[in-house]
Amino acid sequence: MSSSHHLVTGATSGIGLELARLLLADPANRLVVGARRPEAAAALRALAGPERLAILPLDLASLATTEAFAGQVGRYLAGQRLASLAANAGLQIAGPHRLTADGYEETFQANFLGHAVLIERLRGHLAPAAPVVLTASGTHDPAAKTARLFGFRGGLFVGAERVARGELDPAASPKQLGLDRYATSKLCAILYVHGMARRAATAGTAADGPRFIAFDPGLMPGTGLARERSAVERWAWSTVLPVLARALPGTSTTRRSALAYARLLTGRAFAAGSGLHVDFTLAETPGSRDSRRADWQDELLRFVDRAALER
Ligand SMILES: NC(=O)c1ccc[n+]([C@@H]2O[C@H](COP(=O)([O-])OP(=O)(O)OC[C@H]3O[C@@H](n4cnc5c(N)ncnc54)[C@H](OP(=O)(O)O)[C@@H]3O)[C@@H](O)[C@H]2O)c1
Repeated sequence: MSSSHHLVTGATSGIGLELARLLLADPANRLVVGARRPEAAAALRALAGPERLAILPLDLASLATTEAFAGQVGRYLAGQRLASLAANAGLQIAGPHRLTADGYEETFQANFLGHAVLIERLRGHLAPAAPVVLTASGTHDPAAKTARLFGFRGGLFVGAERVARGELDPAASPKQLGLDRYATSKLCAILYVHGMARRAATAGTAADGPRFIAFDPGLMPGTGLARERSAVERWAWSTVLPVLARALPGTSTTRRSALAYARLLTGRAFAAGSGLHVDFTLAETPGSRDSRRADWQDELLRFVDRAALER
C-alpha cells in the first residue's frame, strides 16, 4: 500500500492533536510532526509507532531550529513528497512584549513568520498541488462579534517592520496589545495565503506549486491556548466556556474543526484552488477587508523573502 506523508505543527495538544489522531486513523497516512519538546509529546506518541509517526524537534520562535527541522524532515522523507502541510502551531502571549533571539516579537514569529520560513524551506519536498493550510482565526476580523466579546479588535497591519517588532499601538494597554498581536499574526497568515496564491498565478507556477489555504477553526474553548492567562481565566476557558460558548456564533470543538481540517489536507474538500479562506463548516468566507489588501499582501511577502534570505 502506498502511503501519504502529512506534516502538522502544534500537534501536541488542542486541535493539532485531534488532527493527528484523525489522520493516523487511516493506515494509508504517515505523519511528520514538529514539537518544541518531543520528549513531552506523550499523548501524540501514543497514537502510532515510529514507522508511521515521526516527532522531530521544532521551536517556531527560533529560525535556527525551524531550519534544522526542515533539514531533518527532508532527510526523513528521503525523496518522498509531502501530501500536505498544516501550519497549525500557535500561542497567545497575555503578558508583556517578548522578543525572540532573532529579534522578532514572539507571537509574530511563532504563529506566522516561522511557518512562512518553514514552508519556503520545504517547498521542494511538497507534492504538486499539495494543500498548505495555515490555521487562521476570526480574531483577525474587527467585525467578528464573538472575538470582540473576548476583547479582540481585529489585526492591526501597521507595516511589516512594525508588526514584526510587535509595535502595533503605543496607546494600547499591555493586555490589549497581547490580543492585538495575536489577531495580527492571524491577519498576516491570511494576507500570506492570498499573496502566495497571487504570486504563483502571476509567475505561471500555480499548476505545479502548493495550494495555499487559510483555515478558521472557530472558537474552541478548552485547548491549551489560554495557558499564559491568569488562573481564573484558564479555569473559565476549560470548564465554563466549553458549555457557555455553544450559544455564540462561530463556536466549534477541536473534534469538529479537526474533521474539517483533515478533509482539506487529504483533498476531500477543496481539492482544487489556492488563496482560499475556509471556515470549520468548510464554507469559503471572504475574511476581513484588510486581509484582501493586495498591497499589504505584497509588503508582507517581501518581508518574508528578506527574513528567509538573510539566513
Ligand atoms: N482555541 C481556539 O479557540 C482557537 C481559535 C482560532 C484559532 N486557533 C488556533 O489554533 C491553533 C492551535 O491552537 P489550540 O487552540 O489547539 O491551542 P493549544 O492546545 O495550545 O495548541 C497549540 C500548539 O502549538 C504549539 N506551539 C506553540 N508555540 C510553539 C512554538 N514556538 N514552536 C512549536 N510549537 C509551538 C504547542 O506546543 P507545546 O505543547 O510545545 O506548547 C501546541 O502543540 C493555533 O494556531 C491557534 O492560534 C485556536
